[in-house]
Amino acid sequence: MGFMLDKVVPWGRSFDEYVRMFDLSAADLQQRILGCGDGPAEFNAELSRAGGCVISFDPIYVFNTAQIRSRISETYEAVMNQIRLNWADYLWETISSVEDLGRIRMSAMDGFLTDFETGRLEGRYIAGELPFLPFENQSFDLALSSHFLFLYSEHLTAEFHLQSLREMLRVANEVRVFPVLTLDGKPSQHLNSVTACLKEDGYCAELKSVPYEFQRGANQMLVIKPSAFTN
Ligand SMILES: C[S@@+](CC[C@H](N)C(=O)[O-])C[C@H]1O[C@@H](n2cnc3c(N)ncnc32)[C@H](O)[C@@H]1O
Repeated sequence: MGFMLDKVVPWGRSFDEYVRMFDLSAADLQQRILGCGDGPAEFNAELSRAGGCVISFDPIYVFNTAQIRSRISETYEAVMNQIRLNWADYLWETISSVEDLGRIRMSAMDGFLTDFETGRLEGRYIAGELPFLPFENQSFDLALSSHFLFLYSEHLTAEFHLQSLREMLRVANEVRVFPVLTLDGKPSQHLNSVTACLKEDGYCAELKSVPYEFQRGANQMLVIKPSAFTN
């Protein structure tokens, strides 16, 4: 049957995973970055500590640290159970076991929780929901979506995806989305129709291989930018 969750869950990947999922170069990491649906984002905590410029956007940031910690604890067993049930759908190389995965994810989310109050005061964690973003046009170089758009294609319509990506392209020069598979490991049913609309809008939308694969077959990101910028 494949991986199933009845809602979008707060679950966070590590800084190192973000770098590989989005194939971020040293130059990319110096850009103004927006993470949409960033959840418990160690990426923000670590990059900010290293002097980078990153803002994360997610509905869970309306809650305080204790409330987010408790949501993560509630989510933990549900996610780990789904991973155990669908063990063969993952590549157990860099991450060697379900227990190892639990440790890596919890360590990444702890990194976020420790940073959250400071980051919120500094304006690095902004609460809100796609398909609307509270930012000026072109205020970022790069907007990222990890494990939200396309992954939850059963929960979110094609129209929601299109509106969200157009909004991300309004505020950033380039958008990267990873993965483009759904929770049960199939290509998203929205990918072709949404990218066709974006191409009609004048964007170039391409799949690029990345040096990251945990969910089997999920090793490509979608890169969208104005056609004139691609050569
Ligand atoms: C599975 S988590 C992914 C977190 C992080 N990007 C990562 O890859 O580790 C999905 C996130 O999407 C957020 N989310 C749910 N609805 C959203 C919306 N309408 N706009 C932005 N984020 C949303 C959830 O709160 C959750 O933190």
